[in-house]
Amino acid sequence: MGDFEHKVVFITGAAKGQGRAAALGLAAEGADIVAFDLGEPIPYPAYNRSSNEDLEKLKDEIEAMGRRCLICAGDVRDEAAVKLAVDNAIAAFGKIDVLFSNAGICAYGNSWELPTSQWEAMIGINLTGSWNVSRFIIPHMIEQKSGVIIYNSSIAGLRGVRRLAHYSASKHALVGLARSQAIELAPYNIRVLTLHPTDVNTDMNKGMAAQEGETPEAIANRSGGQLLPVPWIESEDVVEALKYVASDRARFVTGYPFVIDAGMLTK
Ligand SMILES: NC(=O)c1ccc[n+]([C@@H]2O[C@H](COP(=O)([O-])OP(=O)(O)OC[C@H]3O[C@@H](n4cnc5c(N)ncnc54)[C@H](O)[C@@H]3O)[C@@H](O)[C@H]2O)c1
Repeated sequence: MGDFEHKVVFITGAAKGQGRAAALGLAAEGADIVAFDLGEPIPYPAYNRSSNEDLEKLKDEIEAMGRRCLICAGDVRDEAAVKLAVDNAIAAFGKIDVLFSNAGICAYGNSWELPTSQWEAMIGINLTGSWNVSRFIIPHMIEQKSGVIIYNSSIAGLRGVRRLAHYSASKHALVGLARSQAIELAPYNIRVLTLHPTDVNTDMNKGMAAQEGETPEAIANRSGGQLLPVPWIESEDVVEALKYVASDRARFVTGYPFVIDAGMLTK
């Protein structure tokens, strides 16, 4: 028996990277998955090319593991699409035990040079989109008197990063959202917290390196970021932390940032 047997997990940004790894990792522990992602590319940032085919492939893989998977295409900023996905999830599974609010974008730009459209996209997806998904799921968790909400922030949610002010601002704001919701929702036995991974080896990192005209390896070498001798971590490393904080084994863990930084914040 896995830790997520009979649990329903709603994951945003499930088509790629950490969201996809989370869907597969938690399904392997017994979870049924609601996989929410764009279904088609958006113009900014350019690397973000996930598709409906990615979602279909994920569904096939999860069903091959003997678990159920509902795929939902939409933008986390789109109220109607999110509400429909939550309604469909409740109709299909009857409940949502865990929200892994993971959809996000990243791209470089000096804070004073960013076009308003890029600032708004970053805050709109990473912060407002995360809040948007939570607000449709929370009433169901309140009714159940149980639930776990985990926002995928970043080490940039706990420190500033050059040329990533918009990203860092959005990820810091998730800490405030999570801590406040942890206070609001504790009486209903709902836990809320943030994850803070260091660099993760996903399309996001590759896309950002391409924007700088460098390889991810060159950027990692130049920043010399981690305390432990690795240039980055893998999505599966984040999923290991997620499996703990989302499970009943962490039943008294709420409100606080959970760091997976290979020592970066200690340097
Ligand atoms: N890659 C890293 O180094 C790193 C480090 C720390 C935190 N993070 C955070 O982890 C999360 C996952 O990133 P990743 O590394 O897996 O990147 P990724 O680009 O591989 O995956 C992100 C997924 O989010 C989806 N998405 C983007 N905008 C969306 C929107 N508006 N609506 C719905 N879905 C949307 C994308 O389509 C994609 O499938 C992000 O929030 C990111 O900020 C990433």
